[in-house]
Amino acid sequence: MSLEMALLAAHVPSICHEERSPVFQQELIKGLRQMRDRIQDLQAEAIVLMSCHFPTTFHHYVDATPRHNGILTALECPDLISDVPYDYPGDEELARSLVTAGKQAGLPIIELNDPTYVWDYGTVVPLRYLVPNQDIPVINLSICCAASLDETYQWGEQIGMILRESSKRTVFISSGALSHNLVRGRENMPTRSEQAMDNQFIDYLMKGDYAAAREMLTQYSRIAGVESGGRHLAALLGLLDDEHKAVFWGYGQSSGSANAIISFAS
Ligand SMILES: [Fe+2]
Repeated sequence: MSLEMALLAAHVPSICHEERSPVFQQELIKGLRQMRDRIQDLQAEAIVLMSCHFPTTFHHYVDATPRHNGILTALECPDLISDVPYDYPGDEELARSLVTAGKQAGLPIIELNDPTYVWDYGTVVPLRYLVPNQDIPVINLSICCAASLDETYQWGEQIGMILRESSKRTVFISSGALSHNLVRGRENMPTRSEQAMDNQFIDYLMKGDYAAAREMLTQYSRIAGVESGGRHLAALLGLLDDEHKAVFWGYGQSSGSANAIISFAS
């Protein structure tokens, strides 16, 4: 079994540069640093990261590019994230295994293999903390807007199958928030109702009741405006099995959204 760990990670833009990050997001940074150490201890050989800021319309994309090299200025917040260089190896072979498995399951999966494609900040920001030495191959996955939660869950099952079968030690990262009805003012917490739903969802995760979390996600994602419609969470839940135990590493709000660092390992 070589799926060593799955991770829910935050990518709030204001932590891109640690020296400019607000006090109420320090727990997120601390948690990401602890996960950096865990990834190093696991000697991870490949990271598969699904980002809420790589939204595609009709297909699920798998970034099989052998080398990811670029400079990111974020479309959504070019004041916070500007001129940020990155240079990570890719894993074309493992990426193609993911594409093949997805297609065989009847899912609309497309291989992306293009060195001119520029990563989004949902990918770059957590990797700056989790793999600061840029020395572990990364495969980037999109969120498909036309896909239902069920379809995205099925895609997560296929991803989990391939990572378990792989001879490499792998880590899956779901990069996205929980409740996400954004408001102006970075310090704002989610509303009490949203917090109540976030807490219940996290409680299911911590108890390992992933079936209940999946059942809740359908309405929770709609009411609390969960980032990417909850698709990054559906994929994560599809990938998990009963052996995975959740550990909570940090929480931080950002403009009314809830963000958490939670690891899942057996
Ligand atoms: Fe986001």
